[in-house]
This record gives sequence, C-alpha cells and structure tokens, in this order.
Amino acid sequence: MNDVGLIIVAAGRGERLGHPEDKALVPLLGHPLLAWSLLAFDDFHQIVERVVVVPPGREDEYLEQVVEPLHLQRDVDLVGGGPERQDSVANGLDAMTGKAHWVVVHDAARPLVTPELIGRVLQTLDGGECVVPALPVRDSVARIGFESWLKGYMDRSELLAVQTPQGFHRPVLEYAHQRAKAEHFRGTDEASLLLRINHPVSWIEGEVTNFKITVPGDLELAEAVLRGRGFRPEQP
Ligand code: CTP
Ligand code: MG
Repeated sequence: MNDVGLIIVAAGRGERLGHPEDKALVPLLGHPLLAWSLLAFDDFHQIVERVVVVPPGREDEYLEQVVEPLHLQRDVDLVGGGPERQDSVANGLDAMTGKAHWVVVHDAARPLVTPELIGRVLQTLDGGECVVPALPVRDSVARIGFESWLKGYMDRSELLAVQTPQGFHRPVLEYAHQRAKAEHFRGTDEASLLLRINHPVSWIEGEVTNFKITVPGDLELAEAVLRGRGFRPEQP
C-alpha cells in the first residue's frame, strides 16, 4: 500500500487546557504539541499526502512556527479548520488533492503517538479494514445521576476508549461525512460517522501513552513519558 493521505487536526482552541496559546502550539519539552505528531508520521513512505488543519487564517504562521523548523522529509499542506472537529476533518478531506485511496486522521492533541502504533494502523488498513486504536476501559464506569448521585453502572466489558490515528477507505470516509453533514449529525470522531451508516470498523490495541492532552496535568504526564523515552528539551 503506498497511497495514504494523512489529516492531522490541530484547529481546536484548547479551552480545557486554559493556556494562552492554541493547544497545538503549547510547548511540550521545548517543541509545539503539533510538532511531535508530525515527527511520528514523517518516516512513512506509504503516506503520500499530508494535510494539517489549523485555526483559519493562521496557516502561514503555523507553517513558519511549527512545520519549517522541523525540516521534515516530506511536504505538508496547511488548511484552515472549522468551528468543530468534524468541520476541521471535512476541510482536511476537501483539501486532499492527491489520489490517495486511504486516509488516516489523527488528533494533534495526541502527541505521544508512536511510529509502532501508526505502523499497525497502516497494516490493518492494508488488509482493507477501516480501523481505530482503542483500549478496553479499565475503571468502573457509572452514569451520572441527579446532582452528586450515581445513577447506575455500565458493563465495562462492552466498552472501549477510542483513540486516533484512525484509518479509513477514503470514499467511505467522504460518504460518511457527506451523510453526517446532510443529516446534521455530530459525532466525536470519524469512526462514529461510519458506524452510523452501518459501515464496519475494526479495532486494534491502542497505547496507554497515546492519551489526549486535555487538561493542564496531561502536559506534565506527557513530558514525563517523553523523558522516559530518552527525549530531552533540545532534541525531539
Ligand atoms: N480540533 C479541530 N478543530 C476544532 C476542534 C478540535 O481541529 N474545531 C482538533 C483539536 O485541535 C484536537 C482534536 O481535534 O487535536 C481533538 O479535540 P480536543 O482534544 O477537544 O481539542 P480542543 O477542541 O482544542 O480542546 P477543547 O475541547 O478543550 O477546546
Ligand atoms: Mg474540543
């Protein structure tokens, strides 16, 4: 397989992080959050087109501040995002000019994604399946009731926490997006749009460290993981 397009969505405001900078620009061990994902995907020759979706109107700024200093092996196109994640992915899909038959969508908010996980997603995609990395839920999961009361428990053996990068057959993903748009459906990720139109999605084991940077404490945790991998502030 040598015709995969990559979309990295990085147009969110990062409100829960509460940092003065956009979440994608927040420094993590001396590099913007977004830089780590770009580096993780850089070595894959199967990925023939790379689109990064950033806050609209700031494409040039992101190119200069984040992309160019990395001296990546391959070109990256920047496009403006929309009000919600789903709109940003749709803009990324629209911006894909190449002939890629497959698309991988990744959240810039998951900077600890490893080439190993990306490789397994691509391998599953190569077998013709749309695929997400996911982890069985380990905590007990309860529904929230009135005020501070619990309502009841869910059967966690049926539950998965779903991550990115998610891999899709491009025409299927485009169709799922068109349907969602036409029917005013909002999903939290792309796989949810596929399931909605009854297209199968398989899962592979995700990574515990591939968590989404959401609140300030996540940054400290991410930095500790990167240090554990041998990274130091100067060299990603
Ligand atoms: N995202 C995007 N466009 C949006 C909203 C989100 O591209 N309009 C991207 C984010 O940049 C992030 C990913 O979708 O990489 C997952 O979103 P989330 O973790 O919720 O990030 P934010 O929306 O930035 O954070 P918050 O919800 O706290 O504002
Ligand atoms: Mg959000």
